[in-house]
Amino acid sequence: MAEPKYETHEYDVVVIGAGGAGIRAAIESSAQGARTALICKSLFGKAHTVMAEGGIAAALGYVYPDDNWKVHFRDTMRGGKFLNHWRMAQLHAQEAPARVLELEEWGALFDRTDDGRILQRDFGGHRYARLAHVGDRTGLEMIRTLQQHAVHRGIDVFMECTIMRLLKDGDRICGAFGYWRESGKFVNFKTRAAVLATGGIGKAYKITSNSWEYTGDGHSLALWAGADLIDMEFVQFHPTGMVWPPSVRGILVTEGVRGDGGTLKNSRDERFMFRYIPELFKAETAETEEEADRWYTDKKNARRTPDLLPRDEVARAINSEVKAGRGSPHGGVFLDIASRRDAEYIKRRLPSMYHQFKELADVDITKESMEVGPTCHYIMGGVRVHPDTAAATVPGLFAAGEVAGGMHGANRLGGNSLSDLLVFGRRAGLGAAEYARGFTGVINVGMDQVEAIAQEALRPFENTGEESPYVVQQELQECMQSLVGIIRTEAELRNAQEKIAALKERTRRVRVEGHRQYNPGWHLALDLKSLLAVSECIAASALERRESRGGHTREDYPKADPKFAKVNVVLRERNGSLTLAQEPLPEMPEELRQLLEEKQ
Ligand code: FUM
Repeated sequence: MAEPKYETHEYDVVVIGAGGAGIRAAIESSAQGARTALICKSLFGKAHTVMAEGGIAAALGYVYPDDNWKVHFRDTMRGGKFLNHWRMAQLHAQEAPARVLELEEWGALFDRTDDGRILQRDFGGHRYARLAHVGDRTGLEMIRTLQQHAVHRGIDVFMECTIMRLLKDGDRICGAFGYWRESGKFVNFKTRAAVLATGGIGKAYKITSNSWEYTGDGHSLALWAGADLIDMEFVQFHPTGMVWPPSVRGILVTEGVRGDGGTLKNSRDERFMFRYIPELFKAETAETEEEADRWYTDKKNARRTPDLLPRDEVARAINSEVKAGRGSPHGGVFLDIASRRDAEYIKRRLPSMYHQFKELADVDITKESMEVGPTCHYIMGGVRVHPDTAAATVPGLFAAGEVAGGMHGANRLGGNSLSDLLVFGRRAGLGAAEYARGFTGVINVGMDQVEAIAQEALRPFENTGEESPYVVQQELQECMQSLVGIIRTEAELRNAQEKIAALKERTRRVRVEGHRQYNPGWHLALDLKSLLAVSECIAASALERRESRGGHTREDYPKADPKFAKVNVVLRERNGSLTLAQEPLPEMPEELRQLLEEKQ
């Protein structure tokens, strides 16, 4: 038989992305007996999951025994403005405690209560303190633990490998084609099932907490393979990113600072959040500082501080304060923990924040306030999946974690990401392994499609002209930041669409210098395709949703509209064009609906 032209591997299940969801999926798939590959764009262990600092939300009930999955479910649905897929939110709330305990069994060392149980921290939108954490390095501990477990299982890991396209045999997935970042050579993975676990899209924006890998790869791979995307208009701006100095703008300042007592203030030293309490959260939110301060000592009966409203509310409030001229010198607001907690407490609970500000901004957070402002952090929208199996709408394709849509509705609660990764990572691994087991046919990869992708990928070396991938990326980030940011209007969104279309056209002409070995300009030229695809999706969905809800605020439609209360905006690529539809959310069973009404 002739040697294949490209390096080729064959597996039952290929997992693309090695953050929390990807590693957990690979562990499960391999535990089910499937020959499993784990592919990561970066080095193994250097996943963006490490940036989820504050904790994993799970109703363990160790700190507040009244906590249980029903309260967690209700909080998640309310945080998501009821657009969440109810079944995903239910499974997530029910299974998160078991996943956290499993992680502990595998070696994760969580902070402890005085009587030796897992300590749980407060976060926005959660009725009870429920985030299991390791100081402010929870994501890091999670990746360390999962990585070690995966290595012990002997899973094959392919590092510094970027997947450019999923391959199909008829309707179903049969492979993934990519390149080695180091050599620039192409590599072909034949597979019965693929799990997307590639995370988010933050690098489409100028100010983001996301790391360089977050270029919307999984979203676009799914779209190009014919899968449905939902809810792409819902982008989360974390209220507290660093704003100064400019070189570190956007880096995350964990919500754990507010969970541990930090308060937001404007330039007049006012705790402005009291002015921004929305109707939905009025009953449980303190209206005065005295009442809010009582909550820190009596969390069960007192009303919560508005500093810990869900992220969409806090980010919008900060935006309004800055617009009204009450911002900090560098265009943010102040986050103060020094006046409430002593230095020893701050350094013990928030060691990374202490070092981050000391080293990057020369600010001692045990003595001074931090300057913070919104930063693009997360996308709620993503691949439409079956809630139980994580199967996408294309046979053989699965998705878990940030790349999957539905779980978080219009806005994700902090801490619900790490638990989502574990719950649905496991389910995706299980679903993919079961699917692969049921598929006994030959994996038939048509080499025509592979050749076409390879040729297209090499085009930037052949192009003449002066179009630079860096300039296109910078213009895209500026466009998304200013026209598809926290507050949107129809005129701006249309303007963004025109700009994105023009940038897409220019991307066809980008030219890169040099050779294929570790060539960042070329890598960016390839990433631009997915960055532009997801940007196009976000702008189109944002235009379609003519209301304000969660992470999508339209200045021209400032209220939530009942017409949009129960619909997903669904995107599909058909014959090279993006199509868009409004489709009804699945009906929630009555017993779950009742939980949403309950006062806890
Ligand atoms: O603020 C944080 O620590 C981020 C956590 C999250 O996004 O879940």
